[in-house]
Formats: sequence, structure tokens, C-alpha cells
Amino acid sequence: MSEPIIRCRGLSLWYGSFRALDRVSLDVKPGEILSLIGPSGCGKSTLIRCFNRMNDYPYVRIEGDLQVAGYDVTSRQTDALALRRDAGMVFQRPNPLPLSIRDNVLFGVRLHAPRTPRSVQDGLVENSLRAVMLWDQVKDRLDHDAETLSLEGRQKLCIARLLPLKPKVLLMDEPCSALDPDGIGAVEELMGSLRGAFTQVIVTHNMQQARRISDRCVFMLMGELVELGPTAQLFTKPVDERTARYIEGRYG
Ligand SMILES: Nc1ncnc2c1ncn2[C@@H]1O[C@H](COP(=O)(O)OP(=O)(O)O)[C@@H](O)[C@H]1O
Ligand SMILES: [Mg+2]
Repeated sequence: MSEPIIRCRGLSLWYGSFRALDRVSLDVKPGEILSLIGPSGCGKSTLIRCFNRMNDYPYVRIEGDLQVAGYDVTSRQTDALALRRDAGMVFQRPNPLPLSIRDNVLFGVRLHAPRTPRSVQDGLVENSLRAVMLWDQVKDRLDHDAETLSLEGRQKLCIARLLPLKPKVLLMDEPCSALDPDGIGAVEELMGSLRGAFTQVIVTHNMQQARRISDRCVFMLMGELVELGPTAQLFTKPVDERTARYIEGRYG
């Protein structure tokens, strides 16, 4: 058995006096795709944002133990920038920087390793764009503005720009919700191709998507982790009555 890459124990989070996470415990295995599902407001975004410490506001209080890619996330001593390099986040709306396609891919590298030689940079750009299945489409226009890409292309670029930093974990919060069906298919194919090379945690409100792409699935309700299991099992033989009701479409 390999060590979990994310280890979460008794994690609770309060926004002021509102408890958004209630003693969540789970392990994520290296290389797997884990989906977080549950009705709107159940705490999916809150949980995934904890994984690279994006809930670091004065009015937020966190209790419990959370280890991600070797970082003790809740410790004050932990370097949040280093954590976010190893556990990169992709959001709902593709948000490339107002720069060229090439400069988007290299942005993190220039920040963290400004002396990287041009030839190495070129290799990083090509490999990252190949990994997200965008290279053939953009190789002749790397200097074009990222905004000229389709929504799907921009979302792939947002994934590509994490890769030169060699992340271990990719965190994606509803990465397909702004895309049309073709774009969704393309990004799901991309996630499948990254399986094994990276650990992927994906929030989705689309149960069919969770079913198609994930190895294991978490069902959450009102800040609580109700059930975690292999995807096929969770959707066909859920253990908890509340999971059964949700996948039958009875709430949210
Ligand atoms: N920054 C915030 N301040 C206060 N309450 C918040 C904040 N973000 C989320 N919440 C609340 O926490 C709960 C969980 O939200 P969220 O994690 O965004 O759910 P989900 O992603 O599953 O829709 C909701 O009730 C939401 O209103
Ligand atoms: Mg959300």
C-alpha cells in the first residue's frame, strides 16, 4: 500500500460562527482521480480550497489535521507558496493571465526559477501543452494572446501552466462548468490521460461526470463527508441512505 498523498483527519472549518466542514476525514491515493459531489453549499469548494490553503482568512477557523503532498497544511510554519506549487488549483472560469500562450505556461517557472535557460523553457512549453492536448492546435501561435483561445483551450492552458512546476496534486473546482459538451468531453479526456502521473481531486456538480472520470467518489452533505467509495460502488450500491437519495436525484 502506498502512503496517501492527502491525509485529512477530523477537519472542521468555520466561516465566523457558521460551520462549513464537520470533522471530515479522508485519504487520497497517489495517482487517483477523486471526485467530490453533493448539493450546492455542502462544502465541496471549502474542502478542496483547504487542500492548498486558500481559505486563509482572518474570519476562518480550522481544526483538525491535514497533510497534503508532505505539507502540514494547517501549520503556521508551512510555506503556502510552496504548497500551492505542489498542489495547484484550477477554477470554474478559465482565468489565463493577459499574456501570450507561451508566457502563461512559463509564468510560474519565471517566478520560481527565473534563470531557466531559453531551451529548457521551450521544452517545458512544448511538454506542458502536449500533456494537455493543446500543442498541435497552438504550436504555430505561441505568441498569441491566451484570450484568443476557446473556453476549452483556455481551461486546458490553465492546467498546462501548473505543469512546469511539477505539481503532485491537481485540484479542480468545477473545471468544466463553463464549457460546452465538446469542451467537457475534451477536458475529461485530458483528466483521464493525466491519471497516474498526477493525483487529481475534482469538484463536480455533475454526477455523470463523476461517474465517468473518477476512481473514487466522495458524497458530502451539509459539511459532512457522508460516504467515500469506489465510484461504481457509490453509484450502484451506496452504503448510506442519504447517498442513495442523492443519486436518485431526490435533493440538490
Ligand atoms: N467566504 C465565505 N464566507 C462565509 N460563508 C461561506 C464562504 N464560502 C462559502 N460559505 C458557505 O459555506 C457553505 C459551503 O460553501 P461551498 O464550500 O462553497 O459549497 P459548495 O462548493 O459545495 O457549493 C455554504 O453554506 C456557503 O454559503
Ligand atoms: Mg463550489
